[in-house]
Amino acid sequence: MEDRLLLGQTLAFTGDPFVEGPGAARHDPHGAVFIRDGKIADLGPADRLRAAHPQAAIVDHGADLILPGFIDAHAHYPQTAIIASWGKRLIDWLTTYTFPEEMRFADPDHAARTARRYLDLTLAHGTTTVASYCTIHPASVDAFFAEAETRGLRALAGKTCMDRDTAPEGLRDTAQSAYDDSKRLLEKWHGRGRLEYVITPRFSPTSTPAQLAALGALWAEHPDCLMQTHLSEQTDEIAWVRSLYPDARDYLDTYEAHGLLGPNAVFGHAIHLTPREVDRLTEAGAALVHCPTSNTFIGSGLFDMTLAPKLRVGLATDTGGGSSFSMLRTMAAAYEIAQLRGQALHPSRLLWLATQGSAKALNLHDKIGTLAPGMEADLIALDLASTPAIAQRHARANDIWEAIFPTIMMGDDRAIAATYVAGRPVG
Ligand code: GUN
Ligand code: ZN
Repeated sequence: MEDRLLLGQTLAFTGDPFVEGPGAARHDPHGAVFIRDGKIADLGPADRLRAAHPQAAIVDHGADLILPGFIDAHAHYPQTAIIASWGKRLIDWLTTYTFPEEMRFADPDHAARTARRYLDLTLAHGTTTVASYCTIHPASVDAFFAEAETRGLRALAGKTCMDRDTAPEGLRDTAQSAYDDSKRLLEKWHGRGRLEYVITPRFSPTSTPAQLAALGALWAEHPDCLMQTHLSEQTDEIAWVRSLYPDARDYLDTYEAHGLLGPNAVFGHAIHLTPREVDRLTEAGAALVHCPTSNTFIGSGLFDMTLAPKLRVGLATDTGGGSSFSMLRTMAAAYEIAQLRGQALHPSRLLWLATQGSAKALNLHDKIGTLAPGMEADLIALDLASTPAIAQRHARANDIWEAIFPTIMMGDDRAIAATYVAGRPVG
């Protein structure tokens, strides 16, 4: 691949803004990113990089802001077609909309079509990595990974496992088949190119203890894999877990007791946590994923962002419980939820969550999510004046954070001027 030199504004974090404070970033209004062999090979002022790399093909992004591609740390690609389904809370939403749609993934063509449409949408929204749930059907995993591989994406996914009679007929596996299918898919896809398999029990209410134990055993055999699931999203769900697992100390304990807690565990939502759960998650070094548009859309509750940086926290759409494919819209919702809790999230923290924070939650921060030499060149160019409403507010900005914030709050796919996957432009 030809060397490329992208010119534009650049913004690189110099530390975790939840630890170092909101200003922990270096902004260069005339910056450049030098790409060689799919990776960022140099970063700095445009003048210096032009002189240092005269052979590179120049792509001038003008005043657009070059950032790492967004990382969506929790999504359900099979729910693409039921996004924005009206009027239900979690359990009814699952039974009314989600499970019937997921049944359609028994058809591999439906899975392939949806994977294609989903990745078209996420890339158009500047998202270059997602960690997706699939359905119980192994072919739904093959469809997702095949499409991600064709596009050269760094992507994570797993077969969603459900064997309890709380899941409908036609959408149930068994403890043994979940173990066998997950193992086969893991051996097929994990570490193939840029792909990673994620062990994926849907959540405790749709698994028997035997299935959770089987997946715990599989994880013990492959501890380098991530394990993703849902935790304490809605109060009704927590009461349901209590009735299904009467011996468990709390919701987290249903996972912990079956070997499903550790530093590679990624828990979606995690809103209504007890002090014991927070302590155990912290001791275990597990990650949480905040899904703000989902939490307001399904009426789940307000995530406590003060858990960062004690715990690693990523950001996600939770498509299609979430109401948008856009990580910009997702940052806006995270801002609004924090406001309702009396916390104002600085734009640097929002951007960090959508890039390096999610990368850290997925233990991929040595590869993606940061604008720095050695990182894979998954990048976007963000137009900070993409609509008249945003442009007129942007015109009044006094610093880079004020310049970005209107796009965070009001931006969508129109703000994504360009997307690069491993250094190659998309589209
Ligand atoms: N809990 C279990 N499954 C799901 C799902 O598909 N979406 C959301 N938001 N929560 C869940
Ligand atoms: Zn989810």
